[in-house]
Amino acid sequence: MTVPIAIIGAGIAGLSAAQALLKAGHTPHVFDKSRGPGGRASSKRSDAGSLDLGAQYFTARDRRFVDQVQRWQASGCVEEWKPQLFNSHGGQLSPSPDEQTRWVGTPRMGAIAKAMLGDMNAVFGCRITEVFRGKHHWHLLDAEGCSHGPFSHVIIALPAPQATALLAAAPKLAGVAASVQMEPTWAIALAFDKPLETAMQGCFVQDSPLDWLACNRSKPGRETALDTWVLHATSSWSKQHIDLPKEDVIEHLHGAFAELANCAMPAPVFSIAHRWLYARPASSHEWGALADADLGLYACGDWCLSGRVEGAWLSGLEASRRLLEHLE
Ligand code: FAD
Ligand code: NAI
Repeated sequence: MTVPIAIIGAGIAGLSAAQALLKAGHTPHVFDKSRGPGGRASSKRSDAGSLDLGAQYFTARDRRFVDQVQRWQASGCVEEWKPQLFNSHGGQLSPSPDEQTRWVGTPRMGAIAKAMLGDMNAVFGCRITEVFRGKHHWHLLDAEGCSHGPFSHVIIALPAPQATALLAAAPKLAGVAASVQMEPTWAIALAFDKPLETAMQGCFVQDSPLDWLACNRSKPGRETALDTWVLHATSSWSKQHIDLPKEDVIEHLHGAFAELANCAMPAPVFSIAHRWLYARPASSHEWGALADADLGLYACGDWCLSGRVEGAWLSGLEASRRLLEHLE
């Protein structure tokens, strides 16, 4: 009997590793504490339709990821988004068109992870609290006290601070993960019963508590009766207001939106807030992935490269490459 490989985390990095291992003939078993896959690139189902509260869009620069995006596009889970982009600087709003190709999952960002997951072995609602080695193999312990295993190898595909705790068996890797600072983002969505009178569909913001806002329903496949907007606070505002109650966060960020948008700003008929504690690494790295090949323990995630969807996907690919290389 072949012993399967455990992957902790069903975000883009974990699923990318899982897909590469599956392709090479292995049997990955994926564990995630959430109810579904996607992590920071998932979408929230709500009374105002599906909302992309995390990753907004993604760009593809590495040839391997460009090819993957083309395959996703061909299978219908990704489409190009061509928003009317604006820039808000010192309170001045101005159009800011460019030539960058930007992609989104369709009909929601979470569609990509769903497609990647396919019919893989996966357990959701399962928070892993310990990764330990028995005589020959690895075992996982979850928050309910259940043990999972045996596994030949373990890939930990979590944000760095969460990975650190599970890397105790490989102190060197744990030390590297512990050195990565990840910053929070408060995200809110607002829905209006009449469309806002603005041409803006996405906006890069400076000099405000906000750093990005987008009209969610301007993305392909998201036609909804309500006019839906997603607003992201800057890392520094999010840090300063990390424990603010959600209603207050919504009030502040709605106010900041009203201040910068050159249009009437009614009260929303729907609002929601989400706090991403580990939204983005404070800086980029060039590690690809972390590996203790002799132990059979690996770590990957956006923080090993760039804090972007592409970085996460490439990092998962690198973790699987290093694991497969060691098996040869
Ligand atoms: P994650 O997506 O964080 O996946 C980790 C998974 O592990 C999660 O599903 C989590 O539930 C699970 N998990 C955590 N702890 C445990 C545990 N103990 N046991 C089991 N499971 C566990 N990128 C872009 O390219 N473009 C953007 O526009 C963009 N905007 C963003 C906006 C926001 C607000 C945020 C938060 C991120 C944004 N990003 C963007 C970044 C992008 O979302 C991430 O780089 C990428 O999704 C990270 O993937 P990952 O697999 O490395 O980690
Ligand atoms: P990109 O190339 O569209 O954007 C990179 C950066 O360039 C932008 O953040 C913005 O500052 C600037 N920029 C790009 N086009 C612009 C335009 N037309 N006008 C004015 N400024 C422009 O996308 P890339 O490199 O794939 O980056 C992903 C995006 O994800 C970034 O915007 C990044 O800030 C965001 N992100 C947000 C996170 C969060 O927690 N809020 C976490 C990770 C990524």
